Amino acid sequence: MDRKGDFVIAEDKLYQQFVERFQAQPQVFARAPGRVNILGEHVDYNDGVVLPMAIDREVGIIARKIELPEVHLIALDLSEEVVFTFQSIFERKDKSGKPLPRWALYPAGVAWVLLQKQLDVSGIQAVYSSSIPIGAGLSSSAAVEVAFATLWSAFGGWQIEPMKLAQDCQKAENEFVGVACGLLDQFSSVCGVEGHVLFFDTRSLEWMPLRFFEDCMIVIADSRVERSLASSDYNERRATCEEAVRMLQRYIPTLKSLRDISPVEFAAYREFLPPVVQRRAEHVVKEIARVYSAVTALRNNDRRAFGALMYASHYSLRDDYNVSHPNLDIMVEIAKQLSGCYGARLTGAGFGGCTVNMVDQSVVSQFVEQLDQLYTNRTSIKGQVFAVTASQGASWKFV
Ligand code: GLA
Repeated sequence: MDRKGDFVIAEDKLYQQFVERFQAQPQVFARAPGRVNILGEHVDYNDGVVLPMAIDREVGIIARKIELPEVHLIALDLSEEVVFTFQSIFERKDKSGKPLPRWALYPAGVAWVLLQKQLDVSGIQAVYSSSIPIGAGLSSSAAVEVAFATLWSAFGGWQIEPMKLAQDCQKAENEFVGVACGLLDQFSSVCGVEGHVLFFDTRSLEWMPLRFFEDCMIVIADSRVERSLASSDYNERRATCEEAVRMLQRYIPTLKSLRDISPVEFAAYREFLPPVVQRRAEHVVKEIARVYSAVTALRNNDRRAFGALMYASHYSLRDDYNVSHPNLDIMVEIAKQLSGCYGARLTGAGFGGCTVNMVDQSVVSQFVEQLDQLYTNRTSIKGQVFAVTASQGASWKFV
């Protein structure tokens, strides 16, 4: 695989830093990519189907195993470090008894889950860095979790099924970090396939890679409006979906999740739900249907139909699910007027972060430049617009 892009983590830079800081040779390099979700937003915690791809932006860690049962981490991008032990993490503390900094909760959470599974989790010294914009909806946290899980599996000499690894990382985020996220992000980071989008059924856990339109590219536009996924908004949306299920069960006792009701059936029952619950559920039900339609559009090589589904998803997230942000709406509105843009929508949890755009390959550089410029003109914010390619899931190697 050619990993010479600008945004893969430079192993030699990490190597140098490692040797300087620890006065020793590292042994293993592990990496895990971020992801962009092309369609299927806020449906993974409703047993829905999603269509993400792993991107060529990633977390890279270089490390060596030590005999002590402790983890010494250097987060290069933050210029911060922490030491925790396999005892101290059970109290969410570092070795000296101070609360773990937020960024360290992700690797510590992964160790916490793996230890509970009685897997061999070794003490390490590690330096890591990321080229995934943080808090922008591109799964920078999931990539950290997956990269550390991959690293510990390399040192421990154990292997678990990729899907199980993704679920362990999700558990770390749910139970240790405290975000009730679904499996979308960790799955994408583990299972990414170069050149493909991933059709993933979060209920059956079946998935399949699909070739994306050959003459189209995916462009990400970071609005530079930051959001925190741990914010109560995300967990609140999830709770509302559960409430919708409980209410609908009075009429459809067999209903287990919003996945079980089609848009047509939903239309018959929606009036029994209070207005906000109704709009949230409507988004989920229709978004799941859009993912199926998108797969059909992909198979029919119908770019326009696919793009239209992306726009529809954005409007639904904006108007019914209420997770957009005015700057994301501006980003989508501008993109829609540019030539060669088939579809655009917010991606990830929303509330800020990025949009994802499907653009004709022949005009990508022009599109990137114009979107960048016009967004700054409108908002006085310097966003960041860049094309991505679909990359391989997490991997490791000896150095
Ligand atoms: C975040 C979560 C995912 C998913 C998306 C919204 O990225 O981590 O599990 O729910 O939001 O689709």
